[in-house]
Amino acid sequence: MKEVNVIEHPLVQHKLTLIRDKRTGSKEFRELVRELAILMAYEVTRHLPLCEMEVETPMAPVKARVVGGSKIGIIPILRAGLAMAGGMMDLIPTACIGHIGLYRDPDTLEPVRYYCKLPGDLAFREIIIVDPMLATGGSVVEAINILKEEGALNIRLLVLLAAPEGIKKVHDEHPDIPIYTAAVDERIDHNGYIIPGLGDAGDRLYGTK
Ligand code: PRP
Ligand code: URA
Repeated sequence: MKEVNVIEHPLVQHKLTLIRDKRTGSKEFRELVRELAILMAYEVTRHLPLCEMEVETPMAPVKARVVGGSKIGIIPILRAGLAMAGGMMDLIPTACIGHIGLYRDPDTLEPVRYYCKLPGDLAFREIIIVDPMLATGGSVVEAINILKEEGALNIRLLVLLAAPEGIKKVHDEHPDIPIYTAAVDERIDHNGYIIPGLGDAGDRLYGTK
């Protein structure tokens, strides 16, 4: 399948530019990441089936449409994914949230797992992984491995920024996973940072260094 959806909506592109800007401080950065997750969630959920139910308006009964089909599971990759999950939870309040804690070893750039708590019924849910950055792809591939081992069958990936190297790794190892991103940048540097990117997403969100 090997699908990459670049979300070109003007509001998404505008807010992405604001978070790229190094002058944007943590408070505004967090707010923008949350807003971007909400805007981009429209595209990630566009395929969801609708079914009809009858409701009564103050004027008359009407058959109206609601989201049907599988329930949703949102899986933020800690830490930076948490800021996106907040926005998604506002939009889809019935979704379950699972957490996967990974950090990149600064020398090897390999993901190190430190936490995992997932819904028990992954196989019956539409899973959306959220993480602002897809750089080498190591963290996302590890998260997908964990989710598939635990039974997830239907997974989508939502990131704010992707590098070609990360997209290739996800496509090579999990070609069935559609990727949604606001932009595909040039490359990663020798420290595994996306160029031009936006710097270290976790540090900018939480004011660490
Ligand atoms: C960042 C980011 C991704 C990962 C991407 O997290 O949020 O999870 O790096 O890099 P990769 O594609 O090369 O794996 P980081 O490991 O810095 O942890 P943090 O969210 O706790 O800051
Ligand atoms: N993680 C980040 O936070 N930023 C990058 O550019 C790459 C990985």
